[in-house]
Amino acid sequence: MHCSAFGLENPKNPICGRRPGRLMNRVNRQSMGDQTMTRTLRYEPLDLRTLTDPYPVYRQLRDEAPVFWHEQMQSWVLTRYRDCREVLRNHELFARDRRRIGEEVPEFRQSVQTLDPPEQGALRSLFVNTLHAQDFDEIGRRARNRIAELFGHLADRDGFDWMKEIAAPISLAISADLLGVQEPDLPSYISISDALARRMDSGLLPANAEAGDRARGLLNTMVKAWFDAEDCSGALGDIRQDADKARVPDHYVRNTTSVLFNASFGTLYATAGNVALTLLQHPEALERLRDERLLSTGVDELVRFDGPAQGTSRVATRRTMIGTTVVDPGQIVLPLLAAANRDPEEFPQPDELVLDRSPNRHLGFGWGPHACLGASFGQVAVKEIIRGLLAAPGPLRLAGVPTRRRTATVRSLDVLPVTFRP
Ligand code: HEM
Repeated sequence: MHCSAFGLENPKNPICGRRPGRLMNRVNRQSMGDQTMTRTLRYEPLDLRTLTDPYPVYRQLRDEAPVFWHEQMQSWVLTRYRDCREVLRNHELFARDRRRIGEEVPEFRQSVQTLDPPEQGALRSLFVNTLHAQDFDEIGRRARNRIAELFGHLADRDGFDWMKEIAAPISLAISADLLGVQEPDLPSYISISDALARRMDSGLLPANAEAGDRARGLLNTMVKAWFDAEDCSGALGDIRQDADKARVPDHYVRNTTSVLFNASFGTLYATAGNVALTLLQHPEALERLRDERLLSTGVDELVRFDGPAQGTSRVATRRTMIGTTVVDPGQIVLPLLAAANRDPEEFPQPDELVLDRSPNRHLGFGWGPHACLGASFGQVAVKEIIRGLLAAPGPLRLAGVPTRRRTATVRSLDVLPVTFRP
């Protein structure tokens, strides 16, 4: 999802976006007697109502048109768990790498995210191995101290914005600590990350593409400076050291480092907001998370329940069927991970927060060869944010109406007003 999800990368591609019939999304429903009512299903990811609560429309899509042609995005939108998981798993049939359907992918975008197996393998292993060699406990401990310090400064305030005062600085601190680099300037980095998140929606708002590409350029420049620095520790040090052995082109390694850093900051920031809001709305669940065993399953459940990654995209390499729908080569499919995560066929009581849910094979971290590379680290980080909430100077409460950022691929809050005051 850190690449383009609700985005059509190259609308000029001649085989891309072959239009199915216009009546495709008409839903025929039996009403009274022999009368048949026909109506058109609408899915507007950026509408205020959808941004506030997308789950009713996801349910409607899943029930009435689980393989839904979205005219504006020129994509098949998938909402059933089994369809979404199969698309993510089957990289032969559903590609991430657009070069497999004859498109060009500019060098500055080529990374673990744009390559598919087998080419992706060595690069992905390099990053998986270096990440897992880091001391997550130690990074977690430093994150805990930082949260306590941030709360210390906020304790006397009447109220504050959780996104600005906690979610943003802690996500940046954790991401920089993992890589072993100095924290970039927070306001500048927020605007880079915001432009990259909006870039993912360029299928809906084409104007977002240019600013997003500029932001990627700035991020790549920042990462180049990290690579050029004399010495470095953390994951970046290990990546630099092991990159030669992996025998993958330099730009793949650098671009993947950019993707990794931004994926880390962007998803942790959004998750810190979504999780805090869910727990403020379910205070009894927050209390139960004092139990460490519940905290592990609870983090996954919180990501399933209202995770940051709403969807991702793949492109069909051959003519195929999804359910009863024919998908042509070059057509884009958009698995809505967040809709799949509420599919009652996979998750009993899908709209309930069940902290000890097991099994919980949610798609909040993706699935298959592009599944989240930082999932275990992300889980550690989210645990620390919850521990931080539990150790706050007093019970935190909502102090106003939260507002959502107007992005569809990444579900994030913009402002989350909170207070320690009763
Ligand atoms: C709770 C936090 C997180 C969530 C919910 C999350 C979610 C996801 C999802 C859904 C994908 C798959 C997208 C797709 O299939 O197209 C993904 C990929 C990825 N994530 Fe995360 N992520 C999180 C944290 C992190 C962190 C902390 C890092 C880095 C340390 C990270 C690095 C990546 C990378 C590099 C990819 C691309 C993998 C590939 O394409 O092979 N993520 N993430």
